[in-house]
Amino acid sequence: MNVAFSDKILRLREEIDRQLNKIDLPEISTSLAQPMRFSLNARAKRLRPILVLLVGEDLGGSRQNLMPAALAVEVLHTFTLVHDDIMDNDSVRRGQQTVHVKWNVNTAILTGDGLNALAFRLLMQTKSVQLDRIGTEFSQAMLEICDGQAFDLAFEKIDGIDTEDYMNMIARKTGRLLGLACQLGALVADASPKIVNNLNLFGQELGLAFQIQDDLLELTADQEAMGKSLGSDLAAGKKTFPVITALNNMTEKQRLAFLSFLKANAVNRRLIVRELTKLGAIQQTAAVIEKLLTNARQRITSLPEQLQNDLNDMMGLIARRQS
Ligand code: IPE
Ligand code: IPE
Ligand code: MG
Ligand code: MG
Repeated sequence: MNVAFSDKILRLREEIDRQLNKIDLPEISTSLAQPMRFSLNARAKRLRPILVLLVGEDLGGSRQNLMPAALAVEVLHTFTLVHDDIMDNDSVRRGQQTVHVKWNVNTAILTGDGLNALAFRLLMQTKSVQLDRIGTEFSQAMLEICDGQAFDLAFEKIDGIDTEDYMNMIARKTGRLLGLACQLGALVADASPKIVNNLNLFGQELGLAFQIQDDLLELTADQEAMGKSLGSDLAAGKKTFPVITALNNMTEKQRLAFLSFLKANAVNRRLIVRELTKLGAIQQTAAVIEKLLTNARQRITSLPEQLQNDLNDMMGLIARRQS
């Protein structure tokens, strides 16, 4: 493990935490400021803003110019989580109660709306000759996330979702935002269109791996370490990657029986992992994550060496994550 790199990430995370803490909310005169701050200041990995800063600084951008865009991406991400938890009916996020449980659903809707607007306000503070493009990419990414989330919900009710449908869905709900983070770092650093494009593709591929790994961790990880409700995917009939893989080789009748088995045993993740392992689904899922990380690595081979090293180290950290 690269200790110097882990240290660098730790310092970036601390700096992002400090900056998030310092955000002013003068427009919010009501108690809405509380859940907004509550969700922003909770313990989180800050993966997306770290990517903005790593990419941007390695390409010659200044921390000062990059920070508003980095914060905007994290605030946007936080907004999607607050609304996602309502949709997924989850009670724990980032090691604390979800906003709709601690307050109520209406407050959580408003908190998300407020964070969404805050994200745009921060983004517009970015000092860059590329601000028009940055604004366009940011809003398009947001629309794609909404579309991905709509797919995710629709798939709960549809039988026969295949891995292609699934990949299309996660490319939108998760991949695009990681792509955007890398893209924004490059845009603020005023990198060439080719570099901006490669970094977007790298981030998207990394995002696919990240989401499939998240599906796997939902089954195998420790809830305390993950800091969020686990097992709810199964209860809701979510078509996660390991589940789709297991359903792949079954007849219609077997599929229906397996889906009811998953729902009925959602609280017994160990039993489910045992079944999925017997079916080869856990191993196949791990292999697909590896493959996607290899694809991502291939997107960055023509980038400056320091950036390649940092992104490779970042992939290593992500591949080993347990939270
Ligand atoms: C959670 O994202 C949502 C997914 C895309 C799986 P993170 O795992 O990055 O969550 P935080 O930001 O660290 O809480
Ligand atoms: C993550 O959704 C993607 C977004 C919030 C846009 P999930 O529902 O898959 O992630 P977790 O498990 O709640 O973090
Ligand atoms: Mg969800
Ligand atoms: Mg969720």
